[in-house]
Amino acid sequence: MCIMIPKIAQIPLVSSHPEVYDPCDDSFALVDALLADRANLLEHQPSICMEIGCGSGYVITSLALLLGGNSSAYYIATDINPHAVRVTQETIEAHGCHVELVITDIASGLEKRLNRLVDVLVVNPPYVPTPEEEVGCSGITSSWAGGVNGRDVIDRILPVADKILSDRGWLYLVTLSENNPLDICLQMRRKGYASRIILQRSTQEENLHIIKLWRDSETLLEENECMGLKKTNRVKNMNPIPFPQVSVWGCDSRNNR
Ligand SMILES: C[S@@+](CC[C@H](N)C(=O)[O-])C[C@H]1O[C@@H](n2cnc3c(N)ncnc32)[C@H](O)[C@@H]1O
Repeated sequence: MCIMIPKIAQIPLVSSHPEVYDPCDDSFALVDALLADRANLLEHQPSICMEIGCGSGYVITSLALLLGGNSSAYYIATDINPHAVRVTQETIEAHGCHVELVITDIASGLEKRLNRLVDVLVVNPPYVPTPEEEVGCSGITSSWAGGVNGRDVIDRILPVADKILSDRGWLYLVTLSENNPLDICLQMRRKGYASRIILQRSTQEENLHIIKLWRDSETLLEENECMGLKKTNRVKNMNPIPFPQVSVWGCDSRNNR
């Protein structure tokens, strides 16, 4: 019997630059979560897929390849670091994919054009807790510097995601325990999103969570009910789905791909 392994970006074809974030445990965790959710993604038939903070291009290229059957989808990716956008372009070309690339802060300048149109949004943000002054620095520092609790950039991305996600839009977001993923889910619940932690992975340094969020009219109704009843601590859909939840990766896992 022949088992078809879905294609993702190949590390030897992923371009690099000293000022650009190389694929690491967090990037691999995000792509593994997308792979595990591939059947749903294929059924979802997204029209527009987007990545905010594309870095080397490993994630958006993997998404385009794993959705390969859905050739009608349009791909767009942004990064604030111009080197990252150039490296992503090389990675995409090496894999024969097509992605529109934009150098911008989150999705600045695209929000009107993408208003409620994005069906799949993937984000591996700068999530490391750092001193405030490191946030927004240029080059490689912008890859990880997340400010207090690592939430500075995440908290700016969430309202943008709410603007650009379509009614059936899905957001896949990488977070650390220190970012308080439960609080992120509760915050998005108030905007009418259901959520689920679809993958948890402990590395030598980090405890990563990949959260999937999607608009859910029931969640909004329940939230309004809760507000009316002054009960705000109910969280729906927070049970992880049966994934291999905790796996341990070394820092050199890039070399094992
Ligand atoms: C942790 S890296 C992830 C890179 C890549 N997505 C991956 O998973 O390997 C975060 C990326 O977000 C970019 N970034 C940081 N702040 C940003 C912002 N305000 N707008 C757009 N991109 C940003 C960084 O330049 C970096 O490429």
